Amino acid sequence: MFKHAIVRPPSSSFAQGLTTTGLGAPDLALAQEQHREYCAALEQCGVALTILDPDPQFPDSTFVEDTAVLTTRSAILAHPGAASRRGEVSSVARSLTQFYPSLQTIQPPGTLDGGDICQADDRFFIGISERTNEVGAQQLAKLLEQDSYSSSFVDIRGLNGLLHLKSGIAYLGDQRLVLTKGVEDLAIFDGYEIVTVDVDENYAANCVRVNNYVLVAAGYPKFSTELSRLGYQTIPLDVSEFQKMDGGLSCLSLRY
Ligand code: GLY
Repeated sequence: MFKHAIVRPPSSSFAQGLTTTGLGAPDLALAQEQHREYCAALEQCGVALTILDPDPQFPDSTFVEDTAVLTTRSAILAHPGAASRRGEVSSVARSLTQFYPSLQTIQPPGTLDGGDICQADDRFFIGISERTNEVGAQQLAKLLEQDSYSSSFVDIRGLNGLLHLKSGIAYLGDQRLVLTKGVEDLAIFDGYEIVTVDVDENYAANCVRVNNYVLVAAGYPKFSTELSRLGYQTIPLDVSEFQKMDGGLSCLSLRY
């Protein structure tokens, strides 16, 4: 069960963030409204929010998930792969000190974005991507091992369209993984029950199980219907403005 989440509304510089989508500039007012609805959904799921101040110095700082890896056993600060994002970590760290007695950190030359890390109970899938390198992945695996978690590396560098591992996978609990078509063939996921996302709904794979609900991107009816058929209560959320900036539902919060 998650009790807390950290979020940060998009700031006035949001449109200057990193993006590869070619979907056009985001509408800030709409992004702010979508973020408010996202926060309300998290509260509906039963988590207490820490809402950080918007930070125009860091256009991508609304994507707080990339700044840390949080478990019930420890907090590990990331070292984001994009240099323009590294300054986002310190304010999140300050907030985390209220909840964790100590913070560990990924050290350069290791790089790691939280969006590349998918926890599946006591096992972590660590994506090696344009943002997370092998050194960062090894450092994280070692830190997690000290807390009795196992890790598996997933190299997504050859998979088109995936910025982060969690752009293409999500863990729903009960040994059930959501996978996009590009990643479903990787043998590393053997033993899990797989919910495959159709290619035309790829973006929907970035869903988030939060306690008794699954947050899903609005506008992907096949995937949403499948989750309902499997018995999940879903909360559809419009995140169109965050999608334009290569972000999604998981990136918008740190849950712990
Ligand atoms: N715009 C989010 C990222 O590229 O990290």
